[in-house]
Amino acid sequence: MNFLKEKGIPLEKQLKTWHDIVKRPYERELADNYTRTRQILMNGIETEAWCFKHCMVRKSPDWEMNKVLVNIRRIEDMQQTTVNWLSPFKQTVLDTTLGYEQVAVDLTAWLAQNEEDEYVKETFNFGLLEDFDHLYRYSQFAKMIEDTNPDIILHGATDVVVGRPTQYHHNCNGLRMRKHYDKNTASPQTKVNILTLISGEQQTHNYYAEHGFMYGNNDLKRLYAEICDVEEEHVTMYETLVDPSETMYEKWLVHEFTEACNYYNCYKDEVDDRMKLIWEEMLGMEIEHLKIASKYFKQYEKKDPEEVIGEKAVLPCHFESQKEYVTDILLNEVNKRVVAEGKFDVVDKLDESWRSYVIQEAVSSSGAPSETAVQLSIDTLGRDVALADSDLLNKEDSLVKKAMQKLYNAPNTVTPEAYKEIIKKQLDM
Ligand SMILES: [Fe+2]
Ligand SMILES: [Fe+2]
Ligand SMILES: [Fe+2]
Ligand SMILES: [Fe+2]
Repeated sequence: MNFLKEKGIPLEKQLKTWHDIVKRPYERELADNYTRTRQILMNGIETEAWCFKHCMVRKSPDWEMNKVLVNIRRIEDMQQTTVNWLSPFKQTVLDTTLGYEQVAVDLTAWLAQNEEDEYVKETFNFGLLEDFDHLYRYSQFAKMIEDTNPDIILHGATDVVVGRPTQYHHNCNGLRMRKHYDKNTASPQTKVNILTLISGEQQTHNYYAEHGFMYGNNDLKRLYAEICDVEEEHVTMYETLVDPSETMYEKWLVHEFTEACNYYNCYKDEVDDRMKLIWEEMLGMEIEHLKIASKYFKQYEKKDPEEVIGEKAVLPCHFESQKEYVTDILLNEVNKRVVAEGKFDVVDKLDESWRSYVIQEAVSSSGAPSETAVQLSIDTLGRDVALADSDLLNKEDSLVKKAMQKLYNAPNTVTPEAYKEIIKKQLDM
């Protein structure tokens, strides 16, 4: 599929009635879990599309082009409303949160396996283990506060088990910065992969920032605050992979291409007929946006858009269970950390000057909420909420041991010994 050769929906036909903008939501328990992840991701993609166009108009002196941009932007905004409001109102904030982290885990795993740039791939794998741990921490509260078995939302497609513990995700944000790709040599797939993930992580950050206060429980609120801040680090990590020398016209082109590719992928994979129609219509809108962006790109850059986006669609958001891939990364990379100059290292190689120690001491000195979550679960439920095959469940103590730091751990850290006890109890049962 070459979008530039397809027919899109003319811009003047993209305006909808309020009736059409607000559609019937999917059902909390009956919907396919990957229908939910598609809907969550596309909301993030639309938010980024809207936000980017605000930045662009603020910087652009081209009055005529801006008139077009602000009209497309309104459409992006309406698309965002449609997509986001497909969420059922009975889906609690914690339910949706589990959905967000399932997006992060299974999307990042897919992207990593479809990424030709080894450095970008390593960065994806690094972030993957952090969102994997977020899913585990939130699952404790889903069970404790709402008596929700996480599998009601996840449908057993994603494991829930300790990852790289969240208390170790707090870094000097300068260390989170990665080296960027070269816009002249990076493939369209790399550009789309990264922008897709930036959009997802940014939306995750925004969701936690906007909803974390909606629970009365202070331990849970603090967990939202803690993980919200990690998502901020994730946005930093992924957005610094992008070549900053791309012009705004080039970025606009890549944005529309990313939207089109994602809707195309959703359309191809969707199992719910009603949702499939929505993705199809959205794709038609994006093809038109892409053609308009291409026109301005050609005008200002004097280049063919194909030089940037290639001649065929890429598939940036195929969702399927990634348990095997994630387990492999988990067992091998749980002890990694970000270090200076965009590099990675293992925890045993860090010396006392590692800048993230200062950050971790500053934020976790009164206890890490992510550790409290597990401790409360052990106290309340007798063990942590963990859903995986017994082989992986029995490795929780060794995973924590491998991930721990020599020089700083939060004072309330749930130790490998405590995990060993849980596992023993489980085996005795
Ligand atoms: Fe859009
Ligand atoms: Fe996360
Ligand atoms: Fe994340
Ligand atoms: Fe668009």
